[in-house]
Amino acid sequence: MKLKKPDKLSKPKMEIILATRNKKKIEEIKRVIGDMPVSVMTIDDFPECPEVKEEGVTFQENAVRKAMAVAQCTGKPSLADDSGLEVDSLSNAPGVFSSRYAGESATDRKNIEKLLHEMCSIVDDKRNARFVCCLALAFPDGRVEIFSGQVEGRIGKEPKGSLGFGYDPLFYPERHNRTFAEMPAAEKDTLSHRGKALRKFQEYLRGSYFI
Ligand code: IMP
Repeated sequence: MKLKKPDKLSKPKMEIILATRNKKKIEEIKRVIGDMPVSVMTIDDFPECPEVKEEGVTFQENAVRKAMAVAQCTGKPSLADDSGLEVDSLSNAPGVFSSRYAGESATDRKNIEKLLHEMCSIVDDKRNARFVCCLALAFPDGRVEIFSGQVEGRIGKEPKGSLGFGYDPLFYPERHNRTFAEMPAAEKDTLSHRGKALRKFQEYLRGSYFI
């Protein structure tokens, strides 16, 4: 009897849990790593996971804490993003407080208003700033990998554009005269702190034994 040739065995996809509830971050992460052979879930799929407070003094500390907590709780590799805006003339504020600059439950609009107020007397050539992103990939056995990215730019004097999120309407990446909120998603991804960190993460996945 002639035996049927077995189908080529396909490796199971690596499952990654995104340790964030920020819908815009999730969108950006899925956009960049969407074509990788990984299956992406979020902590919304694991309601039993505890909320992790961002009490660290660095982006890395916060990202590692969030990723480790979710990896422990789910038993699966978890990716956390901690990111924010550093403004030179404000001694790198809002930094790790970027999401709650105008208070614990601040909206993007309130944060933008506060930033513009704090910078109202800062002249054009002193409005340098950068976005920073730290991604931490934590495994249930305690291993952690870090991928980071940043983008230099300057803070405008009024919000421009309606795309993106957070401080995007105020941020002009260097050598550009449009804010991130005026750029199509794919253009922001090629320049942004998160895009840069995610491309390092992609490189890691390509070289890893998982895929
Ligand atoms: P966290 O990492 O959840 O603590 O919050 C990051 C905060 O930094 C966001 O809520 C935004 O205010 C700001 N932020 C981080 N990445 C971006 C970005 O790509 N565009 C605009 N704002 C950002």
